[in-house]
Formats: sequence, structure tokens, C-alpha cells
Amino acid sequence: MTPPPAPENLPAHIAVIMDGNGRWATARGLPRLAGHYRGAENLREMLTACGEWGIRYLTVYAFSTENWRRDRQEVDGLMTLMTDYLQSEIGNLQKNRVRLLAMGDLARLPENARATLSATIDRLQYNDGCALILALSYGGRDEIKRAAQKIAGEVAAGKLTAADLTEATISRNLDLPDVPDPDLLIRTAGEKRLSNFLLWQASYAEWYFTEACFPDFSRAHLAAAIADYQARKRKFGG
Ligand code: FPP
Repeated sequence: MTPPPAPENLPAHIAVIMDGNGRWATARGLPRLAGHYRGAENLREMLTACGEWGIRYLTVYAFSTENWRRDRQEVDGLMTLMTDYLQSEIGNLQKNRVRLLAMGDLARLPENARATLSATIDRLQYNDGCALILALSYGGRDEIKRAAQKIAGEVAAGKLTAADLTEATISRNLDLPDVPDPDLLIRTAGEKRLSNFLLWQASYAEWYFTEACFPDFSRAHLAAAIADYQARKRKFGG
């Protein structure tokens, strides 16, 4: 049993790039989707741990704008996995008082995935536990582009002048303006890049990299990432 992290200086918001599902599966002679399925089981475990430990937000990079370019079978398989996950996990999510939020260009999702997502968000909206944020059809550049379009609309409508535009104007036009920036950003499977994830919000996030592929990323790995974060001194450029 992994002991919980020390209660002091816990990250309020953890964001995870769940990488290495494909490699994990290929190394075992399994189809790539098997790695995604195993990853989804892991996500359940991570979310439970976050709830128990008092983490307020867990954002996961479930599907990027670039992932639409993967082969059709994998894209369809991932959409089905996410839809089935939300339907089969609803009881568990409710029991753990999880709230669900989503960010990304959700209009591109297949109709049934979008409907399931929106129904699940509604059903969990009054919960007060950890918020699970699914980044779906998400790209940081795309999110900033969509924010810029909204702002341009406000300027065109005479509600805002270019001179009045501040960083806060951009923040409040992003997908989830009420969610605080991530404190800790974890990437699994040894890669050390941001891959278009939370470009605006991750400015001052603390990074943690691990060689473990996401399907192997356990509660103990998460506790180690949090302990590493707790030992750091954040300066925010000051
Ligand atoms: C990256 O690994 C992972 C993804 C593109 C998908 C992540 C999705 C899940 C873990 C499914 C669970 C999500 C929900 C919402 C149920 P990769 O396929 O790029 O791995 P590779 O680099 O080894 O090929």
C-alpha cells in the first residue's frame, strides 16, 4: 500500500501527458488499443488516489488535435474507449464525488461521444471531490486560436478595445477559465516535450518526467511525482 503524500504543499492541480500506451502494448505483442485500455484502468486508479489525497484537479491529455491523424481504427477505438469508460465508470465517479470537465475542440468529436460526455458532465456537476478534466481533441495552439477568435469578436462588437486587452482577457477566453493553472505536469514514457498541451496554462508548472509508460504508471509513481514536487521551491520568476 502506497502511503499518501505529506499534506503540506500538495499540488492543487496535476496535469498528465499519458504517453507510452502504444509502446507498452507493442512490447507485449498486443495491439496498440490494448495499451489504451490498460491506460484507462490506470486513470481510474490515479483518480481514486487523487480523491483520497486531496488533489483538486486532474487534467489528462486523452486525445490531441494531432491524434486525429492516427489511423482510423485507432481513432475509432479511442472514441469508443472514452465513451464506454464514461458510461461504465459513472457509478464509481459518483461514489468518489468526482466532477467532470472537458476542454478542447469538442465539436469535432463523434456525436455519441459528445452526447455521453455532456450527459456525464451534467450528472456529476454538483460533486465536490477531485475534478477530472479530459483534454479531448485538444491542442494548446488551437485553444489559444479559439480564444483569439472570441476576443476578436468582442473587439468587432465594440465591447473591448485592443488597448484594453490584457493577459486576463486571454485567460478568461480559454476553455476552462475558472480552473487554476496546473502546479505539476507529469509526462510518462521518457519523452521530454510539451506536445501542444496547456501551452498557456503550464507557464509556471513544475515538470516531472518518468520512464514508466502510462499503463505502468502506478499510485506509487504518482506519490513519487508529488513528493518530488513538494521538495521544490517555486519562484514564479521572482
Ligand atoms: C499516448 O500514447 C496516449 C494517447 C494518445 C491516448 C491516451 C488515452 C488513454 C490513456 C485512454 C484513457 C482515457 C480516457 C478518457 C478513458 P501513445 O499511443 O502515443 O503511445 P506511444 O507513444 O507509445 O505510441
